[in-house]
Amino acid sequence: MSIHVPSADWFKAPTGAERAWVGLALLWCLVLTIAMPYWHFKGKQNSTGESYRVEPTKFAARVEAFVKSNKVGEDHGIPIVEPSPGGEAYLQAQMWRWHPILKLKKGQTYRLHVSSLDLQHGFSLLPVNMNFQVLPGYDHVLTITPTIAGDYSVVCNEFCGIGHHMMAGKIVVTE
Ligand code: CUA
Repeated sequence: MSIHVPSADWFKAPTGAERAWVGLALLWCLVLTIAMPYWHFKGKQNSTGESYRVEPTKFAARVEAFVKSNKVGEDHGIPIVEPSPGGEAYLQAQMWRWHPILKLKKGQTYRLHVSSLDLQHGFSLLPVNMNFQVLPGYDHVLTITPTIAGDYSVVCNEFCGIGHHMMAGKIVVTE
């Protein structure tokens, strides 16, 4: 209930500039609504949505097997792992680290499995600004083809507790 009851003819249809703005806003809503499915199918930076249910402990075991058989070095105690070109790669999120460091080859396509062991984390690949939500219980498969060599940071962009700001990982793309 309003304090004062408005008179029955309170509504005035928008005219002039207001009408134009309402029309533009509506048009923009429609453009954005169409853009979402359009980019889902046409965009080259979108996940295909491929994902599987997985127990976090089982995912961790797969990551460890992957690290063990493909490890090529270490950086501050974190394993650097180079998957075979065109093969499977694993990246594990947990409070508060990305594990392991991945070493990929430019121009090769990989199936990158990403999952979390505890709660929701945000995969943010910098400086290219590609983002993906990482959930426990799901093995998200991202088909990726690095096109530019260099060092990339993986930062967590979903608040995940006291160490969130320190949750940074690395992907290295070589020529
Ligand atoms: Cu993980 Cu924030």
